[in-house]
Amino acid sequence: MNTTEKHYRFAAVADIHIDLESGGKNTYFIHAERNFARALEVIRKRNCDFIISAGDQVTNATGAKEEWRRYREIIDRSGYNGLILEAMGNHELRYAKYGGCTVDQCREEFIRFTQLDDKPVVRERGKTYYAYLDDTFGDAYLFLALEYSSGTPLTDNFSEEQMDWTERMLERFTREKRRVFLIQHVPFHAFGAGDDNEAPAYGGNMSLYDESGRPFSGNRRFFDLIHRYRDAVWLSGHTHIDLRDEVNYSTAQGSACHMLHIPALAGSTRIATIGGRRGLDRTFYGDAAQGYIADVFENEVVFSGIDFLSDRLYPEYTYVIKR
Ligand SMILES: [Fe+2]
Ligand SMILES: [Fe+2]
Repeated sequence: MNTTEKHYRFAAVADIHIDLESGGKNTYFIHAERNFARALEVIRKRNCDFIISAGDQVTNATGAKEEWRRYREIIDRSGYNGLILEAMGNHELRYAKYGGCTVDQCREEFIRFTQLDDKPVVRERGKTYYAYLDDTFGDAYLFLALEYSSGTPLTDNFSEEQMDWTERMLERFTREKRRVFLIQHVPFHAFGAGDDNEAPAYGGNMSLYDESGRPFSGNRRFFDLIHRYRDAVWLSGHTHIDLRDEVNYSTAQGSACHMLHIPALAGSTRIATIGGRRGLDRTFYGDAAQGYIADVFENEVVFSGIDFLSDRLYPEYTYVIKR
């Protein structure tokens, strides 16, 4: 048992996926709004100091503006008025992939609707990646952004500029002896948390190489950093896989940092065998909206899996990360 006093508490969610495809005629993530509203209610009741959202706040299949408006509306109506810190996922850029808008327009919407310019964060002008420093206890949270398009295995995801910045920040935070959390949406294929490494069920995770075997330099640099900074805690989302499939936590046998995957708040999916092949059932499990409540102590962080719909913790999916 932890006998030291708790420093603070935050909630960790991912893949909120507000979805108004074709003006709401083709909505795929049918529980997204209900689940987000319910999570905010529970988070408020459980006295979390802030919220971390690990990417894919919107779905953006046919434009994200209305989805972002709905996202803000749900927050405003919830009565939760603490800080929400969002990472930019692949869906924030989705419509650009289909040619409906430019990547820059997607980035601008992300900045505008997450109100990033008004947040107390360390950030270079116009950028979608940033750091948040906890004033009282000094912990550092680095929010990375997918920059190019869909975050699939077919693309690199990080510019040299973002990786230079990330490296500088990690060096600085290590020098300052801060505890570091990385929030970066997409896991690596067959590595770490978020999917089964031996028999991956999801084909959409990051790759280190392109199809012709040339390294993706941004992905590669991020991979190196999680091996170099092994005390860090990396929170990801993206695969949407349910806590009950138990691919939640990994350190790659102690070779990399602490990796914790967060299921989709919009409704998780499960690993299944479909037509004789391993895959995802893409059911939104209307009965579950999962994430974590994180209690931060001097020497450890306790991540308690939670279903926000029933407001029940999962004692079996609790991960204690020591400093
Ligand atoms: Fe997602
Ligand atoms: Fe994603």
